[in-house]
Amino acid sequence: MTNPVSLRHETSSDADAVAQVVGAAFGPDEPTVPDLVHALRPFSHFGGGPAIDAPLALVAEFDGELVGHVLLTVAHVDAWESMVPVLVLSPLAVRPDRQNDGIGTALVAGALELAATVGAPAVFLEGSPKYYGARGFVAAEPLGFRRPSLRIPAPAFQVAVLAGYQPWMTGTLVYPAPFWDLDCVGLRDRALVERIEAAG
Ligand SMILES: CC(C)(COP(=O)(O)OP(=O)(O)OC[C@H]1O[C@@H](n2cnc3c(N)ncnc32)[C@H](O)[C@@H]1OP(=O)(O)O)[C@@H](O)C(=O)NCCC(=O)NCCS
Repeated sequence: MTNPVSLRHETSSDADAVAQVVGAAFGPDEPTVPDLVHALRPFSHFGGGPAIDAPLALVAEFDGELVGHVLLTVAHVDAWESMVPVLVLSPLAVRPDRQNDGIGTALVAGALELAATVGAPAVFLEGSPKYYGARGFVAAEPLGFRRPSLRIPAPAFQVAVLAGYQPWMTGTLVYPAPFWDLDCVGLRDRALVERIEAAG
């Protein structure tokens, strides 16, 4: 049986549907995430390798409806030799009624493929080590990367290194401005960060 979910590049006409899916996925506890997507879009073109004529964003469609979305934006690793352009995967969203059906997994795989296609050396994210660890990511700090903020629990700071990665490309990950402007970095609950770090 063919999988009824398909992935494609986001286009400019998807913006409203994407905002709805992202808003529904993150819910009222995280109301700024749709605004984050909007603010990050100008950063979703990677210039380091072969150019593609589309933003680094994928949508998932099911039955003609947009049900999932993932965005990659350009950040930098502040290495000793130079600033290294890399990508950040954030946010990842699947409409609640379509969750737990492999759509998030497909979007992560598609995003990593896209990142490799444009020649990015690495993709970073903040998220569950259990979820992303099973989908190509590893803890970033043991590879020499530093978190953009100590408010990101160390186990949540993850990376997938790609073919263009070289061992000298280590240092602090520097997020683009919208993450800071919208206060979307890490957690604001120090006790929670400490509990997550203690649990590993
Ligand atoms: C997280 C999310 C993108 C996963 O997408 P999905 O299509 O439901 O996931 P898949 O069907 O590919 O994978 C299902 C697995 O993810 C797990 N999972 C679902 N949501 C999760 C979460 N928030 N944290 C950790 N694991 C999660 C399920 O338990 C299931 O685990 P299993 O494979 O061990 O059975 C989706 O649940 C979502 O949009 N959540 C709200 C927004 C969010 O939290 N985004 C991620 C921010 S980093």
